Amino acid sequence: MGNTTNILRDRPLGELDVDLSTEDVRMFEEHGYLPIERITTEDEIAWLGRIYDELFQEKQGGTPGGYFDLSRPYDSEGPNQQPQLLLPEKVFPALLETCFQRNGRRIAARLLGEDPDRLHVGGHMILKPARHGSELPWHQDEAYWDPGLAYEAVGVWMPLDEATLESGCLQFIPGSHRADVLPHHHVGGDPTVHALEADEVDPDTAVAVPIAAGGAVVHHCRTLHYSGPNRSGNVRRAYTNEFQAPPQQRTCPAYRPWLEQTREAWARRSIS
Ligand code: NI
Repeated sequence: MGNTTNILRDRPLGELDVDLSTEDVRMFEEHGYLPIERITTEDEIAWLGRIYDELFQEKQGGTPGGYFDLSRPYDSEGPNQQPQLLLPEKVFPALLETCFQRNGRRIAARLLGEDPDRLHVGGHMILKPARHGSELPWHQDEAYWDPGLAYEAVGVWMPLDEATLESGCLQFIPGSHRADVLPHHHVGGDPTVHALEADEVDPDTAVAVPIAAGGAVVHHCRTLHYSGPNRSGNVRRAYTNEFQAPPQQRTCPAYRPWLEQTREAWARRSIS
């Protein structure tokens, strides 16, 4: 990519160490999510923004087919609704050495009661364009994952632009992480649309969590969450790192028939 060398040369060196209080840990255990006021420096947010924009401009994920729009059929034509790219750290390994990454790993290890070095990380970036970025329906992240494995994981979600109710900040159902994975379906009943939606969610108890750029919200892989459409005049860029403890083999796989549909639809994609 054209600007890669310049971007890497300009990497900021600022440091910020975030540690959780006992009250933070208690809040996460009770509700399944935890806002973090600030997780990285202003300089790093600006630098990450350059990488982010470069990757979306080039439609470059870290794996074959790792760039697609979450909200419409794979490889369909049309304006962006909610483009996502997977594993950006495979394109820019420097993303594994950021302040955001280090703080996220430390926070995740504390919340999961794990050795930080044992946590597997995978990044993804989700962009809601100004004025027409779609909603992401209510779901649990674990609904997307291998039903043969049992997971303990947290996502550390950081907006690069202020995330407000109007621009599509995350919303949560407090305490939902204590339930199992609910039945899900593909949005619109179309398996070629990647986004999943939980079959039945009562949003009456939902809590919206607006976050400034460079803040973060951490959530458990079974916490029900949602983000609304972007009705603001600004792009809403978000970058998540998902930290997973080593998953355990289940004696009996969970029943997640929607994943079979995902696999078939993905296999039919034309990926070069
Ligand atoms: Ni999610």
